[in-house]
Amino acid sequence: MNTDPIYIFRKTWGTYQTVIKSNLMFHRETSTAVRTLFENRVGPLNVIDLGCGDAAHIGKILRPGQVGHYLGCDLSPYALDVARINLEPFGITVKLLCRDMIAVLREAPENHFDLVYSGFALHHLTAEGKQAFFTECRRVLRKNGCVILVDVMREEGTSRPEYLDGYNGAVASEWTALTSAERDQVQEHIRNCDFPETPTELQSLAHNAGLKNSRRLEKQTWHEAWCYQE
Ligand SMILES: C[S@@+](CC[C@H](N)C(=O)[O-])C[C@H]1O[C@@H](n2cnc3c(N)ncnc32)[C@H](O)[C@@H]1O
Repeated sequence: MNTDPIYIFRKTWGTYQTVIKSNLMFHRETSTAVRTLFENRVGPLNVIDLGCGDAAHIGKILRPGQVGHYLGCDLSPYALDVARINLEPFGITVKLLCRDMIAVLREAPENHFDLVYSGFALHHLTAEGKQAFFTECRRVLRKNGCVILVDVMREEGTSRPEYLDGYNGAVASEWTALTSAERDQVQEHIRNCDFPETPTELQSLAHNAGLKNSRRLEKQTWHEAWCYQE
């Protein structure tokens, strides 16, 4: 087995690129919903992107002139190397940190960001981590700023085992754009790393943090986009 981290990154990232290209996680719909929300927003905005991966989504939701400063963080240094290239067209100051998102948020300046964005990363955190996420988000947000969360969420009233059965069942029957080895790899990742909350649980964590206005921007099966504001 090849244990070279660059090889492993390329393999798993390659699978994720196929997932995005085939729209298996509804990136198209969630990005469109977020882009529509920001269409008339005049920049330059201060953006923090938590679990940014290769940051390719930023180009789909914001125009270059709308971004002033961009701070992205991710646990993968290889993803950040790709992010640096993907953000070049923005011609802006980009800061990328290879660190945990809560640690980055805790050190971020208060009252500074217009947009806190996180895509398909928050479900990896514990419930305490998710509460810390919203608490710190509120602290770093500027007036009129918002948190955009795009992520997998459990259906209301369902447990994690029910979510795992449902989601992995859909991967087995519908994700035919992947090879069978890739589907196995995705299912194993979901079993080990997916700890999604329901929308109501997330709303309540946001509310506890003082982000009392929340609204759903998009929902496609378990894939949702939400906006949280003061
Ligand atoms: C599925 S990818 C999503 C990438 C990108 N945000 C998107 O929407 O396409 C999830 C990313 O979250 C990162 N991640 C997971 N937990 C994290 C944490 N605690 N802090 C920072 N990044 C994290 C992973 O390294 C991975 O790059």
